[in-house]
Amino acid sequence: MTRSVLLGRLAGKRAIVTGAGRGIGLAIATAFLQEGARVLANDIQAELLERARLRLPAATGHVAFHQGDVSDPGAVAEMVALAREAFGGVDVLVNNAAIGGTGKTLLELSLEEWERFLRVDLTSVFLCCQAVVPLMIEQGRGSIINLSSITGLAGTAGSIPYAAAKAGVLGLTKSLAKELAPHRINVNAIAPGLIDTEMSRARGQEESRRAVLWPRIGMPEDVAWLAVYLASDEAEFVTGQVISPNGGAWM
Ligand SMILES: NC(=O)c1ccc[n+]([C@@H]2O[C@H](COP(=O)([O-])OP(=O)(O)OC[C@H]3O[C@@H](n4cnc5c(N)ncnc54)[C@H](O)[C@@H]3O)[C@@H](O)[C@H]2O)c1
Repeated sequence: MTRSVLLGRLAGKRAIVTGAGRGIGLAIATAFLQEGARVLANDIQAELLERARLRLPAATGHVAFHQGDVSDPGAVAEMVALAREAFGGVDVLVNNAAIGGTGKTLLELSLEEWERFLRVDLTSVFLCCQAVVPLMIEQGRGSIINLSSITGLAGTAGSIPYAAAKAGVLGLTKSLAKELAPHRINVNAIAPGLIDTEMSRARGQEESRRAVLWPRIGMPEDVAWLAVYLASDEAEFVTGQVISPNGGAWM
């Protein structure tokens, strides 16, 4: 889905997008740049960042790259320092990086797998918020967008730790929205349904596809343009909300 008229809705904004090497994160970074933001694109996978470098207009000076694991506090501190150095601050944080469901049922899961999901899909959001919020408070304004999932709202068999982490993201989002409202920092969650990415292809799309009422499944851009809205000043008064682009699969 392309947009021919771009409005500069994020002109002057400085954003961090985690997990921006592919899929939804790459689409968000692309849309943010198209709308005039400067973007620090993070990913744990160096080769994906290299590919993203070719897709995102690096030469403009509006994009910087950071390779690191957002569940590692040291890497998160490095990422935020890099954004500060490159752009002078952070106005928008998109916590997008995550790992997808294993397909394993309760009795098949190990404690290590459970803890890995919680660390990558939930603790990382806590760490990134904790590192960025002091800058936003200092600036007197900010937007945080957390990627949850329809699985965090409705549950999915074979996705217990992923669902628990994504439901945790919703609790974190709403509580943080309450804490940060006096600082004019809005915190919202996007809980997508089936979106065509490597993550959903690896898990298998058939079961989720059957629940989609719209005559197509979601594309990363369906999430990206919602993120543009939530990051823009047009959404300043929107906080603590969960929006689910899902083609009618869950209401
Ligand atoms: N695709 C869907 O159907 C769907 C549905 C609901 C929610 N989501 C959520 O949307 C977000 C993006 O998903 P996607 O489908 O684009 O997935 P994806 O697997 O295609 O992309 C995720 C990216 O995050 C990166 N990443 C993973 N762990 C990381 C870490 N520890 N540190 C830094 N980067 C890391 C990966 O390298 C990858 O580039 C995730 O939060 C996911 O849970 C996706």
